[in-house]
Amino acid sequence: MRVILLGPPGAGKGTQAAAVKERYRIPHISTGDMLREHVKGGTELGRKAKEFMDGGKLVPDQLIIAMMEDRLSQGDCENGFLLDGFPRTVPQAEALDELLSRMGLQLDAVVLLEVADEVVVQRLSGRRVCRSCGAIYHVSFHPSSKGDLCEACGGDLYQRDDDREDVIRRRLSVYHEQTSPLEAYYDAKGLLRRVNGEGATDAVLRCLEGL
Ligand code: AP5
Ligand code: ZN
Repeated sequence: MRVILLGPPGAGKGTQAAAVKERYRIPHISTGDMLREHVKGGTELGRKAKEFMDGGKLVPDQLIIAMMEDRLSQGDCENGFLLDGFPRTVPQAEALDELLSRMGLQLDAVVLLEVADEVVVQRLSGRRVCRSCGAIYHVSFHPSSKGDLCEACGGDLYQRDDDREDVIRRRLSVYHEQTSPLEAYYDAKGLLRRVNGEGATDAVLRCLEGL
């Protein structure tokens, strides 16, 4: 199963990816998570990416494409993968097409999680993430039974630097301008599947089961 998860910030890509990864046992490749690891580790890429991320802007295509070429050629992607947060621009999608064709691989589906802007703002302003295992919570919609600690591993829950309302609104407008053209790009290839992101958190899994 080779799938791209597309959708605005806060659509639930990370949340739904967890269920898909468990069912299909394929790597969940999130460019946002990879970049946050680089920031945490203080790498050169992390230093370059941080200011774009904190401002809610996209990290330049050439940095992202180089990072993904490296990741996809690591050998664990031959039997499937779930891409979350990549591609995010038409040049990134074209670079991915080229890379997959070099590897002799084809995409099975591009699942678009649709969620209204105001729901995104509500979701992201209440999101909390586990510092140790990355589990995703929400103060009202999906609170941890252990309060400020992760239910799964006991780690600290924190709020992402880009989950402030002004930055959330910037991320949304960047999505509408730079990422939403990918809907037409993948629709033209017959790969796009629209899923309501305002319902259950296993909607993507159900969609993939029906392919
Ligand atoms: P990234 O980390 O990819 O952020 P994003 O796309 O903005 O997506 P999020 O992680 O914010 O949301 P999500 O859809 O995963 O939602 P979640 O499941 O957490 O990117 C961050 C930054 O990195 C970018 O701004 C950019 O700077 C850079 N970047 C990354 N990739 C790049 C690329 N390819 N090119 C250039 N730059 C790049 O859910 C959100 C909340 O809602 C949670 O609290 C959750 O509990 C709750 N929730 C989820 N589903 C439901 C539901 N069904 N009902 C109720 N609540 C729900
Ligand atoms: Zn945890």
